[in-house]
Parts: sequence; structure tokens; C-alpha cells
Amino acid sequence: MLVARILVGVTGGIAAYKACELVRLLVSAGHDVTPITTRGAERFVTADTFWALARKQPPADPYPHLQHADLLVVAPLTAHTLARLAHGLADDLLGETALAHRGPLLVAPAMNTAMWEHPATQANLALLVERGADVVGPDDGELAEGLVGPGRMAEPAEIARRVAVALAATVPSGPLAGRDVLVTAGGTREPLDAVRFVGNRSSGRMGTALAAAARGRGARVTLLGANLQVAVPPGVELVPTPTAADLRREALARADADVILMAAAVSDYRPAEPRTDKRAKSSEPWTVDLVPTTDVARALGAQRREGQVLVAFGAESGEEGLARKRAMLTDKNVDLVVYNDVGRNDIGFESAENEVVLVTRDGERTVPKAAKPAIAEAILDEVERLLGPGS
Ligand SMILES: Cc1cc2nc3c(=O)[nH]c(=O)nc-3n(C[C@H](O)[C@H](O)[C@H](O)COP(=O)(O)O)c2cc1C
Repeated sequence: MLVARILVGVTGGIAAYKACELVRLLVSAGHDVTPITTRGAERFVTADTFWALARKQPPADPYPHLQHADLLVVAPLTAHTLARLAHGLADDLLGETALAHRGPLLVAPAMNTAMWEHPATQANLALLVERGADVVGPDDGELAEGLVGPGRMAEPAEIARRVAVALAATVPSGPLAGRDVLVTAGGTREPLDAVRFVGNRSSGRMGTALAAAARGRGARVTLLGANLQVAVPPGVELVPTPTAADLRREALARADADVILMAAAVSDYRPAEPRTDKRAKSSEPWTVDLVPTTDVARALGAQRREGQVLVAFGAESGEEGLARKRAMLTDKNVDLVVYNDVGRNDIGFESAENEVVLVTRDGERTVPKAAKPAIAEAILDEVERLLGPGS
């Protein structure tokens, strides 16, 4: 079953009540559904009803997770919102979402026949179709006002079927289709007090490039992002993990992924006793005890399952650093160590390029200096080889 993140826009028509059944069908098919109701829709059905059917709470900030959906469905679609979508009006959350959304759009118009047949409505619809929108319905039948004609919203089951068709066309197929890939990226920050932290210069470029590459090969990708300085690739689920403890907890919760790529720079030390307030400036020195954090790669290696591929990254310097990375294979029970020489300042941290050595039990391969997306592809080639035939 293809599980996707679906945004369901509901607008202000009588058929809004039928959108409840659509949300229920999509949720029971396993999809992660986020409802977006217009003010018009809420005259018919409350947003709370849709959140309850979606089995989640409305987020405090709706924007971050509205950006990376696999599909936007608007059902019912009023004449008014059809016009707004056709002309790119962003005067409410649904309008903004539709403009920000980069995936496919499926609409189920519903209105009385006269509104449906009006040249303005048809011209607006033509604009959406021209831009690639999928239209389901409207059906012929009895309308709310008792009239008969085209304008009834398509049945929820039919819309759900069209959702499945639209998703099948969008989710990339590829050698990693059906695989769960977990990627960690960025640099953790360990609090010293309420505003200060001990951190590192990792931008998250390498990890996000890996997430994009894995998604491009058809995998379901979850990205544990530690203070990312770069955008999350489309189609990738982001779980923010600002500290080493957050990253470890979220990684262990997903330890059964088929592939785990640990590209984040996780702090090896954290302040022993972070203050909850801000330490006031003073002329006195501030001495801080740093204690080691718990090694997430080691923890994942300890519970590594058959067939799983674990990839650790190591930023060190020179030949000695490389030797330590070789030892990591057995020491941490991982399958591949990506060695990154941070002694050089033209590659690695904050840089758009990298040069790495891929260290496995059966040898070593240098991937020459290249842009991080190209390095990511080389690493995934190696991962696929380790997954074995049929990966
Ligand atoms: C009882 C009632 C039923 C309505 N049914 C529809 C409808 O089926 N289709 C439609 O396009 N507009 C319908 N409207 C008009 C819309 O609610 C109105 O255009 C509203 O501004 C739509 O805003 P929205 O698209 O942002 O939800 C209806 C209005 C009322 C009061």
C-alpha cells in the first residue's frame, strides 16, 4: 500500500459533509491526512470534525508540515475557491497552501448547475486543467436545491479512488521503492543556558542531499534534522531533532528502517548541567563541565537487524582519521563508513562540495571531489550494493 501525505482542502458548499467520509476513507487507507477548511466550509462542518477524523491535533504552526505533501485534494471545490486557485489568490490558508504546494492537485467541484456552466467557472477550470490539475466530477444528479443537473460532488469513494491513481503516478518508482530510509542531518546544539549552546558548523547539506537522492530512488524517507541551514527536499518527512538526545530518541524509535544514513554531526559532548535561565554577563570566568553524549551509531549498531544497512559518517583528519573509521566498522557494527577529511577547508562542513572515502568490509573507494548531490548518489549506489540483489 502506498502511504502518502495528503492535504484535504474543504470549501464552503453543502457537500462539505461528504468530505468527512473522504477524510475517513483516506485515513483508513493509511494516509497521513491534514485537513484545511476555509471559513466558508466551517459554516457547514467544523474544522474539529475533520481533525478528529484525521486522528490528529491541529498543529500550533500549520505551515511547516503543509509544505511537503504528496497530494492536495480540494473537495468540495466551490466556484469561489476554483476562481481563487485559478488566479493564485493567497487570501487564506488553503490559497497559500495551494501556491506553496509543488505536488499534484486533485479537485472535486460542487455547485449548482448554473454556476458550474457559467463561462467564468469553465474558464477558471480550464486554467487549472492547463496547469495539470486533475478533476473528478461533478456528477449529474439531484442538487441540494432540489434541481437536477451537473454539479453534484463526486462520491467520496470515487474521489478516494482517484487519489490512489494520482499518487501512483507521483511517488517515484526506483530501486529503493518500498524501502524505509532514515537520514540524520545537520548539527546538534547542546544547551549551555536558555540562549547559548555548544554546537558545530554542519549545515545539513550532505544529509539533505542523501534524503533527496533516496527519495528520488523511490524510498520513503524520514529526515531527522538538527538545526538545518538548508531546505528539506520535497516528499521527505522532517522530524526536528535539535539536540543529541532528541536525535538519539527519534533515531531509536525508527531503528527498524531498511537503511539508516547517519550524516548529522552529533555533538560528542554536552554541558553537564545546562542552566534553564540565561547566565548574566559578568567579569568572572564561566567554567563548564562537558560530559560525553550517548553514541547513537553504536546504539543502532547494537540492535542492527539482518538485511539492514547502517551507514556512519566520520569527520576526521588525515590517514590516522581514516584508520579510526576502518575500526568503526566492527567497533560500531555498521556496514559503511563515509570518511570525510575535515582537515581540508575546500570540502565538508558548510561547503557545497565534498570528497569522501567509502569504507566497507570488502574495501575502500574514494569518491572524487564533487557537489554533495553527486556524492550522495555515489553513497546510495554503495548502499544498494550492500542491500543486495532485488534491493
Ligand atoms: C447554504 C449555502 C450553500 C452553498 N453551496 C455552495 C456550493 O455547493 N458550491 C459553491 O460553489 N458555492 C456554494 N455556496 C457559496 C459559497 O459558500 C461562497 O461562495 C463562499 O464564499 C465560498 O468560500 P470558500 O470557497 O472560501 O469556502 C453556498 C452558500 C450557502 C450559504
